Amino acid sequence: MSEPVLNKICKADENGDVYYYTSHEKLPVQVREAEEDDIESIVNLKNEAFSTHNECNYQWILSNWNRPEQKCSRWYVITYNREDGQESQVIGFIFWRIRAGFEVRLTVELDQIAVDKTYRRQGFAKTLIRRSLIKFQEFIQTNFSSFKPQIGFVFVITGERNPAQELYRKSLGLEYKGKIGAIFGASGEKIIMANEHIEQFLENSHHIQY
Ligand SMILES: CC(C)(COP(=O)(O)OP(=O)(O)OC[C@H]1O[C@@H](n2cnc3c(N)ncnc32)[C@H](O)[C@@H]1OP(=O)(O)O)[C@@H](O)C(=O)NCCC(=O)NCCS
Repeated sequence: MSEPVLNKICKADENGDVYYYTSHEKLPVQVREAEEDDIESIVNLKNEAFSTHNECNYQWILSNWNRPEQKCSRWYVITYNREDGQESQVIGFIFWRIRAGFEVRLTVELDQIAVDKTYRRQGFAKTLIRRSLIKFQEFIQTNFSSFKPQIGFVFVITGERNPAQELYRKSLGLEYKGKIGAIFGASGEKIIMANEHIEQFLENSHHIQY
């Protein structure tokens, strides 16, 4: 079945459920943990979005994959249900990881995100970031139940000229903290953006409009 003609956009209803509005229907959007079958889609999205070597992308994803023993990082994907009820292709992925060791108040890095070119500027990344962070916190609390850590600090390292900066501001209130130079090979000058008080977002997440 062909993909629907899309008007816009991921929007939440009064219950906080998110829908993708097409010209004649609203299709439920979901953010879920990535599964083995999604690796190929993630590799393809990553190849398209970033200029690193394809084989390196594949190896890097595999070495950080959602294995049972891997509890400090997670991959999530965003999809929607098509008109026939089947899940769409993977529209975007995100990779979160715990940084700075274990503390009750955790520091988490938004390590990587990409959305399919044909679906950009329709709200998918914003929904993906917010929903997956809530899921990552749930995951962490389930897996480290003895001390129930809370995500308190979120940061991202991005290109000095990457327009995604606006996305990070809008979705999680991350702010520019400083320039850190060309730390990822030849891909240009980087900056760091952070929000030191993300608890507020997580506590109010049921009121958040996606
Ligand atoms: C960055 C990226 C993930 C954004 O995905 P997206 O689904 O298009 O983002 P959204 O539609 O959720 O954007 C939400 C808001 O963020 C801002 N934003 C997102 N992309 C933007 C862009 N290219 N230019 C300016 N603002 C942008 C806008 O304010 C946007 O709201 P608006 O469309 O109502 O103006 C996507 O462009 C991408 O995959 N880029 C290549 C990979 C990449 O650079 N990843 C980040 C590495 S640090």
